[in-house]
Amino acid sequence: MAKTALVTGILGQDGPYLAKLLIEKGYKVYGLMRRYSQPHMGNLKFLGIENQIDFIEGDLTDESSLIQLVKTIRPTEVYNLAAQSFVGSSWDQAKLTTEVNALGVLYLLNSIKFFSPITKFYQASTSEMFGLSNDKGYQDENTNFHPRSPYGIAKVYAYWMTVNFRESYGLFTTNGILFNHESPLRGIQFVTRKITDGVARIKLGLAENISLGNLEAKRDWGFAGDYVEAMYLMMQAKEPDDYVVGTGICHSVMEFVELAFKHVGINDWKKYVVIDPRFKRPAEVPHLQAKSDKMMKKLGWRPKVAFDELVKMMVDADLKRLNK
Ligand code: NAP
Ligand code: GDD
Repeated sequence: MAKTALVTGILGQDGPYLAKLLIEKGYKVYGLMRRYSQPHMGNLKFLGIENQIDFIEGDLTDESSLIQLVKTIRPTEVYNLAAQSFVGSSWDQAKLTTEVNALGVLYLLNSIKFFSPITKFYQASTSEMFGLSNDKGYQDENTNFHPRSPYGIAKVYAYWMTVNFRESYGLFTTNGILFNHESPLRGIQFVTRKITDGVARIKLGLAENISLGNLEAKRDWGFAGDYVEAMYLMMQAKEPDDYVVGTGICHSVMEFVELAFKHVGINDWKKYVVIDPRFKRPAEVPHLQAKSDKMMKKLGWRPKVAFDELVKMMVDADLKRLNK
């Protein structure tokens, strides 16, 4: 019997990369999507898999829709990638962020517990949970959580609920604590895509500048395609556990900007960047850098795409898109 996977967040960035990987491994993939008047299939189309997913309508905030689908499909694996994932919006939409990112996870876990306890569960946890914790210059599974946004706080709740269902009910539940990962499918609000799209527009004469916030923030940026492999590996492990996933190398937003401009032959990038306080956050996370030794040693995961390759890949994809 083919394995079945339910992927929430199927239309986002990670959902399509994960679905593609699972399809290649012979899974039947169900994708949870909200009800749209016009569904946006762009990311699935980009990977050429829009016709290979069984779509199911539902919403993480609607427990009955989750019960219904878990009961019907009884999937081998559930990958919960759905979230209000933009940290910047989470202060203004704290309640919505909590309902989706925290309570939605409880609803999904309950659906599994009551209607399909053999189903394995992956929770998209995040380095944002570490927030300000940086005593050692890196973060690993032993680092304390000090979230700095309603987004991070909701994700801490979901993290512990995922652990608690494992400890209380013996379910196979696992947290992937993923550091920032990017790709040509990244949403345009996130800083990397905002930069690569902006640089491509400036290069093509379609824009004059890019408005950004804090250029000093440092992130451990990897390629989304590599990170979905880590998700898959966690679900194939003998025992469920929680893992930090990142490249171990971090760069500032400024370094990202500099490299993106350099790639299109512009060295004097400062002429094109405007600092706009609207893009600064009420509380910033200054430095995220993963120590993924556990993931690498226990599950053999390695990131394949380096930072400079990632920046070039994203700029080239935006140039191509805009040229069309
Ligand atoms: P993304 O591109 O923003 O995708 C999130 C998806 O969740 C979207 O497709 C969205 O649907 C869906 N969604 C939002 N609210 C929902 C609801 N109430 N019910 C059902 N679906 C809902 O995020 P991503 O970058 O792929 O990230 C995937 C997951 O990993 C997220 O949980 C994120 O918080 C977490 N994470 C991401 C990173 C990263 O660097 N990318 C790092 C650590 C953790 P629409 O398409 O309708 O908007
Ligand atoms: N979005 C954005 N826009 N960020 C900016 C800007 C800007 O104009 N200027 C500077 N930044 C800084 C932010 O202040 C932050 O420090 C950094 O760039 C990265 O911001 P984002 O790309 O929005 O990502 P994030 O780190 O806040 O969150 C992403 O990674 C998390 C994992 O660490 C998201 O994917 C989250 O869902 C994920 O959990």
